[in-house]
Amino acid sequence: MQSAFDAPQDNAMPEIMVGQSEARFLSLLVQLTGAEKIVEVGTLAGYSAISMAQHLSDHGHLWSIENEPKHAEVARQHIAQAGLSERITVICADGLDGLAQIVQHGPFDMVFLDADKERYDQYQIWAEDHLRVGGVLLADNAYYFGHLLDETDDAAAVRRMHERTSLSFQSVCIPTPDGLMMGMKTRKD
Ligand code: DHB
Ligand code: MG
Repeated sequence: MQSAFDAPQDNAMPEIMVGQSEARFLSLLVQLTGAEKIVEVGTLAGYSAISMAQHLSDHGHLWSIENEPKHAEVARQHIAQAGLSERITVICADGLDGLAQIVQHGPFDMVFLDADKERYDQYQIWAEDHLRVGGVLLADNAYYFGHLLDETDDAAAVRRMHERTSLSFQSVCIPTPDGLMMGMKTRKD
């Protein structure tokens, strides 16, 4: 079986997973922070989920939400192949519905957004509500493909994500090809 990184190409899925150095960065961040409860919105083939979960402790868990059943199935296969089925739960659901299903497991240590950009603002609000103080929010495509200032609903949602994050998080944009926003929650309210 191929790797989760190659899976999109081999399964006629969109090749929109994070790059290898971003996956390495996510993996390092889990190790550096000791995050134990992680949420991902947008599983695709499971590449980023596997990268983040491979260093989780026996107490750690990652919930990853994917709304496309075929992608969720391919991801589950790769997660099993990586020996991480007990560490990762793939929830096949719409992003916001999936998030609503896991609130009882919070507060969370890390949330990684990599799903539909038109709801980045709503995912950010969820993360703000369900991360612990000191928890980390990450968002891929922070530059929104160079269209962040466009007058579209999607671009406006990504801008709102940035604006709200700047109020309750200490944040920075890491200059990956399409920007990786990273913030630490500093306020409760
Ligand atoms: C797309 C989505 C992504 O998350 C990404 O990193 C690149 C492209 C897309 O929907 O086209
Ligand atoms: Mg992305």
